[in-house]
Amino acid sequence: MFQLAYTSKANQAFLLDELTELSNDAGMRNRKIDVTGMLVHHDGTFFQFLEGNELVIKALYKRISQDSRHTNCKIIYTQESNTRMFSNWFTRYLSFEYIREITGEELSEDFEELLAGKIENKDEVMRIVNKLTSIVSSHHSD
Ligand SMILES: Cc1cc2nc3c(=O)[nH]c(=O)nc-3n(C[C@H](O)[C@H](O)[C@H](O)COP(=O)(O)O)c2cc1C
Repeated sequence: MFQLAYTSKANQAFLLDELTELSNDAGMRNRKIDVTGMLVHHDGTFFQFLEGNELVIKALYKRISQDSRHTNCKIIYTQESNTRMFSNWFTRYLSFEYIREITGEELSEDFEELLAGKIENKDEVMRIVNKLTSIVSSHHSD
């Protein structure tokens, strides 16, 4: 299992509908190639976490990073792992407002720094993503 997370800048304003469509489409494609993860958009920045077969993830990232809807793709995390963090999410979209609502001030501030590109330490990225998934999982059973 290979995990990759990146941040990027949106090239256009995204309406919620468009984000939902983008992540639904991504989720359907990712399901076919056994890729799981999540996508967050806030203030013109994307954060995406992808996990699956290493070659598949690398090829997917290459395709995503060439998408004209965003630029400045920057990998902030890569890791080999024995387990999936997002075992049943084929690219789930989370809004920052939702994250703030369920995680509270401290984690949402961490997440804001992550989106702003201020956190590049791998362990820190993992700590934040880990905490986020455990809180989100306890709120949702899908
Ligand atoms: C922020 C962002 C995240 C994306 N995430 C995925 C993804 O996880 N999986 C995917 O197949 N496509 C994703 N896409 C769409 C791809 O860039 C691409 O448009 C899509 O895979 C279709 O590729 P194709 O036109 O070469 O077939 C994403 C696009 C953006 C802008």
